[in-house]
Amino acid sequence: MILVIGGAGYIGSHMVKELIKSKEVVILDNLSTGHRWAIDERAVFVEGDLGSPEVLKSIFSEYSIDAVMHFAASSLVGESVTNPMKYYMNNVSSTLTLLNTMLAFNINKFIFSSTAATYGIPDVDIITEETVTNPINPYGQSKLMVEHILSDLGNATDLKYVVLRYFNAAGAIESGEIGEEHDPETHLIPIILQHLLGKRKQISIFGSDYDTEDGTCIRDYIHVTDLANAHILALEALLAGTKDTATYNLCNGLGYSVKEVVEMCEKVAGKKANVVMSERRAGDPARLVASSDKIHRELGWKTEYSLEKIISTAWKWHQTRLKIEQ
Ligand code: UFG
Repeated sequence: MILVIGGAGYIGSHMVKELIKSKEVVILDNLSTGHRWAIDERAVFVEGDLGSPEVLKSIFSEYSIDAVMHFAASSLVGESVTNPMKYYMNNVSSTLTLLNTMLAFNINKFIFSSTAATYGIPDVDIITEETVTNPINPYGQSKLMVEHILSDLGNATDLKYVVLRYFNAAGAIESGEIGEEHDPETHLIPIILQHLLGKRKQISIFGSDYDTEDGTCIRDYIHVTDLANAHILALEALLAGTKDTATYNLCNGLGYSVKEVVEMCEKVAGKKANVVMSERRAGDPARLVASSDKIHRELGWKTEYSLEKIISTAWKWHQTRLKIEQ
């Protein structure tokens, strides 16, 4: 069985949908940001905190867990600056408790959700796994700290792990049954689509004076199901023993500016957005575009979703969500 921590959250719930096709799954989630409606009913669900040794011990005693995937983290960059303790407690301290308890139960296979925020403001056009990590906020720091902890534990114990550094996760499962919903929502694509559905009066573009072609920030958007499939390849490599430790970027390798994303959303929805130019948002790097050559080469991962397909699946989900709410 595979333990998916944070399996009621946005990326974790999409992970479960793919994983459950081939594996038995236990989900641990405290529902602080995840949703009950996102939990796959074929999985065993345990409501609780990953920072609780008692909860972890009861799961590890009751189920035969072959590997752990860890998606449960606080992930708002701005909040991490004003409340760093929350990030170090939720993202570092809880993960230490998890790893400590896993190793005590001889569970030694681990897949960790890391982030592009570990790179900070990169000095290269295309980020590779060799690019220097230099986070500029506590969120990125907290993820990098866990990466360092994993490296040390990997040297000292029989822990086998894969670190996956996500770029901008977006989109929803093709069926439209689950999708992205944060409160507050801070991510660009859901904000634009909510606006195009009439839930917001306007959208703001944060900064139009960046050193990019159209002056707005450039990001590398990656579909959640592509992300999930990368995790499955990483899991299979750990279970088969063909990988002991690895770190991979998960991205499309293509950069789109905020303006281009707005235009693509307008094209998919067939509506014009009411756009306001605003000040820069603190802590936004101008450009974050990466290469996923390493995971392609080593595990055969390929992405299937273009930006247009990513936004189409998100649009389908947001329309479904609106109907449920009405
Ligand atoms: N943006 C706007 N208007 C909005 C929302 C966002 O212009 O209303 C811009 C942002 O300034 C940024 C781009 O759209 O330039 C993308 O913003 P998101 O908030 O969607 O995503 P980020 O790139 O800020 O964040 C993502 C992940 C984080 C991770 C970060 C790494 O969501 O978890 O990449 O830098 F930490």
